[in-house]
Amino acid sequence: MKKILFLIILIPLVSLGQVKEKTLKDISTFPIGSSIRITPFLKDSKLVSIQKKHFNSFTSGSDMKMYNIIKAENEYNWEVVDTILKYATQNNQRLFGHNLIWHSSTPKWVVEKARENPKWLQSFMKSYIETYVGRYKGKVHGWDVVNEGLESAGSSFRKESIWFEIMGKSYIEKAFIYARKADPDAILFYNDFNIERDTLKLNATLKMVEDFKKRGIPIDGIGFQMHIRMDIPNEIIEFTLKKAAKTGLQIHLSEVDLIFNTHDDTRGGGIEKYKFLTEKMKQDQAKKYYDLAQIYKSVVPKNQQYGITFWGFNDRDTWIKPFFDMEDWPCIFDNKLNKKPAFDGFYEGLVE
Ligand code: G3I
Repeated sequence: MKKILFLIILIPLVSLGQVKEKTLKDISTFPIGSSIRITPFLKDSKLVSIQKKHFNSFTSGSDMKMYNIIKAENEYNWEVVDTILKYATQNNQRLFGHNLIWHSSTPKWVVEKARENPKWLQSFMKSYIETYVGRYKGKVHGWDVVNEGLESAGSSFRKESIWFEIMGKSYIEKAFIYARKADPDAILFYNDFNIERDTLKLNATLKMVEDFKKRGIPIDGIGFQMHIRMDIPNEIIEFTLKKAAKTGLQIHLSEVDLIFNTHDDTRGGGIEKYKFLTEKMKQDQAKKYYDLAQIYKSVVPKNQQYGITFWGFNDRDTWIKPFFDMEDWPCIFDNKLNKKPAFDGFYEGLVE
């Protein structure tokens, strides 16, 4: 009798244990993504198992950029994107395309040819976007059509871009028009950094969006990259997201990191104020991840919540350390691929 009683108590506890496994994608009402480098990723079974468990949106960190897609004229390279698509499809994940036009991912041969023959650039853009987006029509859910079209700070269009240099600011709308034509159902984003804290830059983005809407240029969403520092006030993030949401467009937190040390947006531009991650810092970061999830949920209307994507989900592989040449711990999993308090903070932020 005693044995039966014990089993009656134990069985629900065991199944409760299974139910309580903290899975981000299951608890979230919007897609949760991370940037991935597919080749090393597929060789790392632990990474794959975490990714499958917690994420339902897939963004490639580099593989889908122009410099990897078209290394020479007319030489498209689809192999890696096909591998990514296969993985996303098999695992029932949304595939997000990052990105079509970005000054920084434009191959050298394109820049050189455009300088020799400026008229060629627009026809190249048209055929590149139509070929690429057309090939993955109905398979890539949304695209960062133009990435970082504005200067790092302030309200001007980025001048150090072959696209701007030759086509002027109209390159942005042309890219959106070509993308819409190639896949009328894909969700088209303008994506940029610091717009959650630089109100001049945000206002320039919103001005462009309003102008596009008025003139019937297709645009569906704004990507807030959100490479943010721990000391960026929540009030600013709340204010800027609220303002952007008023456009009615989809809002994607597209490249989230919560960074401790100081970085100035240039390669090697890091100041390493923190050399070690303390318990207090872990808790502070957990709170900030909680706040971020809460702000997104409360400020962005449900039908505009495109999702939250991390720019890498573990401190071992984060781009922050090599790029800014400093130590840091911006992710929700640690160097050993274990969950950090940041994971729990974010999870709780999604739940409540
Ligand atoms: O794949 C090669 C590898 O074979 C080689 O051994 C290694 C040697 O340096 O380079 C590897 O390629 C690197 C690639 O990342 C994969 O890690 C490239 O050199 C490097 O330039 C490339 O950097 C990426 C960068 O964009 C430029 O495309 C970063 O990983 C990626 O995190 C970063 O992402 C950008 C977003 O697209 C836009 N927003 C900012 C964000 C961070 O800079």
